[in-house]
Amino acid sequence: MGRLDGRVAIVTGGAGTIGSAYGRGFAGEGASVVVADLGNTDRMVDELTEAGHQAIGVEVDVADQASTEAMARTVLDAFGRIDILVNNAAFFKTVTRGPFEEITVDEWDTTMAVNVRGPWLCARAVLPAMKKQGSGRIINISSNVVWKGVPGFLHYTTSKSALVGFTRAMAREVGDYGITVNNVAPDFIPDDFLREHQPGNEEVVNAQRAIKRTSVPEDMVGAVLFLASDEADFITGQAILVNGGAFMY
Ligand SMILES: NC(=O)c1ccc[n+]([C@@H]2O[C@H](COP(=O)([O-])OP(=O)(O)OC[C@H]3O[C@@H](n4cnc5c(N)ncnc54)[C@H](O)[C@@H]3O)[C@@H](O)[C@H]2O)c1
Repeated sequence: MGRLDGRVAIVTGGAGTIGSAYGRGFAGEGASVVVADLGNTDRMVDELTEAGHQAIGVEVDVADQASTEAMARTVLDAFGRIDILVNNAAFFKTVTRGPFEEITVDEWDTTMAVNVRGPWLCARAVLPAMKKQGSGRIINISSNVVWKGVPGFLHYTTSKSALVGFTRAMAREVGDYGITVNNVAPDFIPDDFLREHQPGNEEVVNAQRAIKRTSVPEDMVGAVLFLASDEADFITGQAILVNGGAFMY
């Protein structure tokens, strides 16, 4: 028996480094998993289905309204319900770093489109199903940069900061339908790409923590599964920082 038997969980950015860990976590608790990403969903779907879990891949651009609505329809056709949405997709790794006066307007707009409009459009798309069910869980993935105020990253930091207010306001709008909305903030979780492009950052961040080690994708899974479970049904509008005590909030 899993904590999420019979539930259906959409993970946007589900083919990515941390999104894959959420997918494995949901599957392990008995949920059917929707790996929703721009592409490359086959690897995760194959991994989950070969292990005996229910999973489908959906190609979606979270910044595009029609695409998010099509995603919700595909999920409902496949599973008949939508219980959990993890807004995890983001324009993140390839963001240009540097002084804010050098960020191009195009890159600013792309960041907001994917990281802010995306979660809004995905929440809109799943809301009718969650309302009908009288239950739902929306989990927005922000970042510790919101609390740290990391320089050289203003567009990304601003977009992730937006999710804090977004979470709180949305939680108040949907509480009467049995839907909770929460925010989970990872700290720096390096993969090969981030190690190559941000050399030395891993050591700097690890030293700032009460628990001085590298954060791995699996560190995030417990908080997300908890918020998705019945155990968290009186928790809404909140932020959980999963950061080994780098910043305390
Ligand atoms: N890794 C970290 O250090 C870290 C730290 C704090 C917060 N985060 C946040 O955690 C989340 C996952 O990060 P990650 O490290 O796994 O990154 P990642 O780049 O591996 O995964 C992001 C996924 O989102 C997908 N994606 C991007 N744009 C999309 C779009 N328009 N529509 C649909 N999918 C899209 C990508 O294809 C990718 O698979 C992100 O929200 C990121 O901002 C990561």
